[in-house]
Amino acid sequence: MKSETTLIGGAMVMLALSVSALVILPYLELHDVEPTPGLKPYTSAQLRGRQVYISNGCVYCHTQQPRTKEFAAADFARGWGRATVAGDYAYDTPPQLGDMRTGPDLMNIGVRQPSEQWNLGHLYEPRAYVPGSIMPAFPYMFEVKSKADQDDVVVTLPPGYTPANKVVVARPEAIDLVKYLLSLNRSFPAIAPVATATAPATPVPAKP
Ligand code: HEC
Repeated sequence: MKSETTLIGGAMVMLALSVSALVILPYLELHDVEPTPGLKPYTSAQLRGRQVYISNGCVYCHTQQPRTKEFAAADFARGWGRATVAGDYAYDTPPQLGDMRTGPDLMNIGVRQPSEQWNLGHLYEPRAYVPGSIMPAFPYMFEVKSKADQDDVVVTLPPGYTPANKVVVARPEAIDLVKYLLSLNRSFPAIAPVATATAPATPVPAKP
């Protein structure tokens, strides 16, 4: 009986320690992090696009967490941007950090590839832009029609990729998703620039 009590007591202590270290302490440290200066809240279209990103499993192949130069110089060399800080995710619940890099990190795709048309076309058929790409196409976010209506967003694809005598039109989910992708931009400094001392130098009293 004594050993059972010790076993259960020990398990409880271990559980309490791990919950404190992995849940409570990180919460206390991060729950009131301020947005990084320069970070804008998402618009409603961008938020809908974020939902499309989540429901289509983009996170399974793409991270949103460039790392420090010291830790992973390759991230920096590839032009993925500075290492992110907690405030960069202030408007992301939950953040789409990802842990798999089958494709490139997307935290700064809005800076690297700011063209709406390129992003729409790449979602319709990645291989039209990157030969041999293993990214899946998302054709159900588009409509192939014989003629575009007045408000349609027509996607101009590289030669040979638009079905003959048809037009490819982006559905609202593709447009929202690309708005979200273009909002991924952490090109501002991670920390607010420290105000340079502008106070006038203290005048030195004249010697009598
Ligand atoms: C099976 C893995 C996989 C999935 C799922 C996936 N991608 Fe990709 N993605 C890739 C690969 C590989 C590349 C690099 C080749 C290319 O550009 O097509 C890429 C490239 C990209 C690029 C261009 C990046 C750059 O730096 O040029 C964007 C933007 C992108 N993906 C967005 C998405 C979005 C949005 C989704 C979800 C709707 C998604 N991907 C789902 C694998 C994936």
